[in-house]
Parts: sequence; C-alpha cells; structure tokens
Amino acid sequence: MLKLSLSEFTLEHFMQHYWQQKPVVIRQGFQHFQDLISPEELAGLACEEEVDSRLVYKKRGKWQAENGPFESYDHLGKTGWSLIVQAVNHWSPAVAELVKPFDFIPKWRLDDVMISYSRPQGGVGPHIDLYDVFICQGSGRRQWRVGDRGNHRQFAAHAALLHVDPFEAIIDVELLPGDILYIPPGFPHDGVSLEPSMSFSVGFRAKSACDMLSGLADYVIDKELGSTLLSDPGRPIHHNQGQINSSDFGRIKAQLQALLDDDTLVADFAGSFLSRTKCQLDLQALDEPLDAAALIDTLQQQPLVRTGGLRCFYVDQTVADGVCYLDGERHAFGAKAQAAVKALCDRDTLTHAPLRAALKLPAFVEALTQWVNAGYWYFED
Ligand code: SIN
Ligand code: CO
Repeated sequence: MLKLSLSEFTLEHFMQHYWQQKPVVIRQGFQHFQDLISPEELAGLACEEEVDSRLVYKKRGKWQAENGPFESYDHLGKTGWSLIVQAVNHWSPAVAELVKPFDFIPKWRLDDVMISYSRPQGGVGPHIDLYDVFICQGSGRRQWRVGDRGNHRQFAAHAALLHVDPFEAIIDVELLPGDILYIPPGFPHDGVSLEPSMSFSVGFRAKSACDMLSGLADYVIDKELGSTLLSDPGRPIHHNQGQINSSDFGRIKAQLQALLDDDTLVADFAGSFLSRTKCQLDLQALDEPLDAAALIDTLQQQPLVRTGGLRCFYVDQTVADGVCYLDGERHAFGAKAQAAVKALCDRDTLTHAPLRAALKLPAFVEALTQWVNAGYWYFED
C-alpha cells in the first residue's frame, strides 16, 4: 500500500500552512515509488472511446492539442510531446490506490488522477489551474517551475490550450521518482520533461458559487421545488412607481434565502450534485446477476470493492435518515441504515459487519444488489 512519507513537516502543518495557500515540494513523498501503470498501458487507454485523453506538442514552433481517442502515435517522433489521460483511477485499480494516501482530504473534494507521459522536452506549457494538485513524479525526471499568484495574463496558445505569460519562478526544481509537487489553485506552473517520464497528478476540485447556483437552479427545476410565489398581503400604499423599495428588496431576498435556509434541500442538492462523476466510470455489469441471497452469502465470505472513481457521500444534515448520494442520485433507507450508509461512503472495501443491520432492510438489500449487478461495487474474485 502506498504511504505518504513526510520528513520536513507533519500533515497538520501541511494543511495549516500549505493547503490552498502555497506550493511546496515534498521530496520522496513516496519512497521507492514505481509507475502504477506503464506508458504502453496508458497509451492503450488513450485509444479507448470512453477515456478522456489528449496529446500536446509543438509543430513548427506552434502549440498543438488533440483530443483522443488516438489510433497511433507514430507521427509524434521521439521528443517534445506529452500524452495526458484523465481519471485513470476509474480504469485502473492500481492507479486508484494513489488516492488513498490523500485520504486526509474528503472524497467530495477529489477530482481525479490524471497521468501524463512525456517525451524529453515535452510538457503542456505554462498555465494556471483552478484546482489543487499533488503532482507525483513516476519514472524519469521532470523540471518544474512554479510562479507566485498574481495578475497573470492568460491567452489561448491553441484553441484548447490556455497558457499564461512568462512568470518568475518561486520554485524551480527537478522532480525525481517519488517526489511530489503540491500546487494550489492560481499558481502558474510549467513542467518540462528531461527524459521520458510519467507523472501522476491527484487533483482536487472546488466549485465556484456560479457552478453551485446553476446546479441548484437545475435541481430546483427538476424536483419542482421553490414554486411558492412571492406574496405581499397588507402592502402599504406605494408612492414611487419605478422604485423597488427596501421592504420589497427584503421580500425578494427572503424568497431566495428561504431555499438556501432549507438544510434538507441544500443537503440533498449538494450531495447529489457533488456525487456526479465528471468522467465515465468503468462499470462492469455482471453477466450473471446475483440475487439478494447470493449477494449476502458472498459478502459473508469476501468484501465488496468500490469501483474506482465512484462518488458516494452522506451529509451530516440527512444521514440520520439513512440518506446517501451516489453517482448523482439520492437514496434514503431510514434510520436503521445509518451505519451502513456511512460504511458505504467512507470505505473503499465493504465487509458484512457494518452492513449487518441494513441487510435486514429490503430496500437497502435491493439497492445494494442492483449496485453490485451494475458494477458500482464488485467482488474481487
Ligand atoms: C502534466 O503532468 O504534464 C501537466 C500537469 C499540470 O501541469 O497540470
Ligand atoms: Co497544471
């Protein structure tokens, strides 16, 4: 099992002084680190329709970006290109293991594990990301420059590549296998491969208020909520026809605020919204579906493993009713399922013990059977 090894500071120190605040190099954060997938396997994944991948390189001095799936890499030559594959944790259980050492941050903040294979002089160019990332160096060496936050001009170096003007480096390092570079959102950075190299980026996302509000609007429309009309009985005589006065402004705000003050509504929205996956899951539905009795029987002998990248959460405000949010959907199983729901969401492998009480509830058993048959959880053998 991969274990994060910190020699310069503790995790508490990292969270207090670096997380979201400043970049840092963690030398040998993973001791004896070995690639979790080979370049050949990565290149193979990028040939698959369901996998999100791109190639970045320069042609006659101009940046180019192509989206996968790819049929061949023959046109690329030996140097100056990078293959980037998103959400490899969805497709490779070995890569999904890389998420575990970062379990001091909750899963709802996790985005995915992106892997890049770069040839010498390859890279995606100087850019700014909107997420926190731990770039874990696999085989080969890569030179990384990171600049400070600031007013950096961004421009499209290619229709699909947003770059940033040259910046002064506050970090300029060569990463070796096992080294980790942590970069919070907003810091310009640029990695250039010094030799054929692999890097494994564990990314964490945060939504903007705009994303959340547009998601909430969709949710409210979909669930037909918030249809109560603004009402103003006992309204005093109004004098200025064109004016929205302070009391009216208060009513308008209160109407909107009432939605946000409804904790159950916000919990149900946030849980469903944040549990949606951005990239496709590798769901392997069972050829021979299990029935509930067979599922419980097998679970007594071996644990269920959650498929890589599946998002499954509970919210403190609703978990007492046995509510969980899985892949965008809300499921409610009642108070007796609370422990099971927590185990379902907190653990990567599920044993029989924490599910015992819930396995007496027909609705829970039915849902779990459906999830296993659809491939959300699987028995390893
Ligand atoms: C890369 O791994 O090549 C790019 C990672 C990044 O800068 O976000
Ligand atoms: Co980046």
